[in-house]
Amino acid sequence: MSKLQQIAIDGPAGAGKSTIARLLARQLGYLYVDTGAMYRAVTLKVLKQGLDPGDEKEIADMLTETEVDLIPATEGLRVILDGEDVSDAIRTPQVSQAVSQVARIPAVREKLTIWQRALGEKWPVVMDGRDIGTVVLPEAEHKFFLTASLEERARRRYLELKSKGYTQSFESLLEEMALRDKMDSGREIAPLKPAEDAQIIDTTGMTIEEVVNELLKRLGGNT
Ligand code: DC
Repeated sequence: MSKLQQIAIDGPAGAGKSTIARLLARQLGYLYVDTGAMYRAVTLKVLKQGLDPGDEKEIADMLTETEVDLIPATEGLRVILDGEDVSDAIRTPQVSQAVSQVARIPAVREKLTIWQRALGEKWPVVMDGRDIGTVVLPEAEHKFFLTASLEERARRRYLELKSKGYTQSFESLLEEMALRDKMDSGREIAPLKPAEDAQIIDTTGMTIEEVVNELLKRLGGNT
């Protein structure tokens, strides 16, 4: 049996990974796996249960009775937490502010990595996150690391939130994003960094379509 195709897309928040990975998956007919959505779903449950996002023991216990599913839909992925559709609820500023803290917990990373690998072993995937090329799918045939300047990433997130009716100032978003970058890059387990064999693409000044085309070009007939 031929090996399944795996495309890993990593990078900091706001580099356009999710939109690009989703469009690329659609073009190729692969499953799109948004691993950030899984960390967000777990964080949402932590907040809903009133747990402290830094409490490793309580959160590890909670995880034994937690299920997160990603269901492909026409408009992207639906995220299902314990049977409930939380696709919108995981994008609130409250979840964004707490998620890096939850994502540092070893028990959380361990469990989510198992779920993510299982998907990559079952289907051809385009998987996006922070540690896909380095930890989750180190054998992926294609690894991309997307970046953009902090200002551009904050501007994109600002416009995205605004279109969804949230009001958060550009300055506070910029600050929050810089902090999240620092926490994601500085953590001990699976920090945000490009895999040695990743292709690094700076998307500053590029449109989504341009980035997708660039990736398709780099993939060549190679999928
Ligand atoms: O991509 P995103 O902004 O939805 O990710 C939310 C958070 O989850 C981000 O702050 C870092 C964390 N994350 C992670 O640690 N590892 C991943 N593979 C994906 C996301």
